[in-house]
Amino acid sequence: MVIFSSVILAALFGSLLAHGVVTDPSPRVVGGANLAACGAAVYKVLKSGKALLLCVENAAAKIDSDYNATACYLFFCRGYQYEDNVDSTRVYATGQVVPFAVDIEAHHTGYANVSVVNLATQTPIARLFTWDVYANDSLGPSQWPKNESSFNVTIPDLGDTCTTASACAIQWWWYATKNVQTFESCVDFATA
Ligand SMILES: *[C@@H]1O[C@H](CO)[C@@H](O)[C@H](O)[C@H]1NC(C)=O
Ligand SMILES: *[C@@H]1O[C@H](CO)[C@@H](O)[C@H](O)[C@H]1NC(C)=O
Ligand SMILES: *[C@@H]1O[C@H](CO)[C@@H](O)[C@H](O)[C@H]1NC(C)=O
Ligand SMILES: *[C@@H]1O[C@H](CO)[C@@H](O)[C@H](O)[C@H]1NC(C)=O
Ligand SMILES: *[C@@H]1O[C@H](CO)[C@@H](O)[C@H](O)[C@H]1NC(C)=O
Repeated sequence: MVIFSSVILAALFGSLLAHGVVTDPSPRVVGGANLAACGAAVYKVLKSGKALLLCVENAAAKIDSDYNATACYLFFCRGYQYEDNVDSTRVYATGQVVPFAVDIEAHHTGYANVSVVNLATQTPIARLFTWDVYANDSLGPSQWPKNESSFNVTIPDLGDTCTTASACAIQWWWYATKNVQTFESCVDFATA
């Protein structure tokens, strides 16, 4: 298990990380497993230059017969696959404070949360951060709450639920109510 620094990943993926997503820790990206699971048409949207800026619904609009709903699950971690991101699995300790940065490309009022998710069942295990209102588009830049784009989460005591790589991820999830747009970023981790 290799722990990539965000600096290295930023260099590898460059501007891909610059839009509408968690930018630190660098989240899951597309790869061959994603292509196989989601089909070429959906994959093309997910890997396009503006991919991380786009909501999940943009990719869902391209679902065709090559889309495997069991394997791709677009509405969980954007359908990005663990197999494509094994080397980015972080190791966190209980109580560790993990700083997050989010680049909100365009504000669309909604709500958001950050949760530890069980990758096998695709269900939340623990809530780490909640915004009842997120990215309120009636507010000007000077009024934007700082914690929407820069915040800390503390790794809770997860027992032995997340000791194995590929068991758990931290998912940032934002639903823009009026626009009906879902944004997701997943950071794979295991507890030490
Ligand atoms: C769809 O994905 C599931 C889970 O990975 C797999 O078991 C199944 O064989 C796939 N179906 C097709 C048609 O490829
Ligand atoms: C929290 O995030 C989950 C997705 O992981 C979502 O289904 C749920 O509706 C969100 N809840 C709130 C209150 O934001
Ligand atoms: C967004 O901000 C405006 C201006 O402060 C406020 O009137 C409105 O209630 C806010 N929206 C939500 C959903 O809280
Ligand atoms: C985020 O910031 C807002 C506005 O500054 C504040 O009201 C809210 O309590 C903060 N949320 C958390 C979970 O700290
Ligand atoms: C996150 O926590 C660190 C200390 O662990 C602190 O220096 C930093 O200001 C915090 N960041 C935010 C956005 O709260």
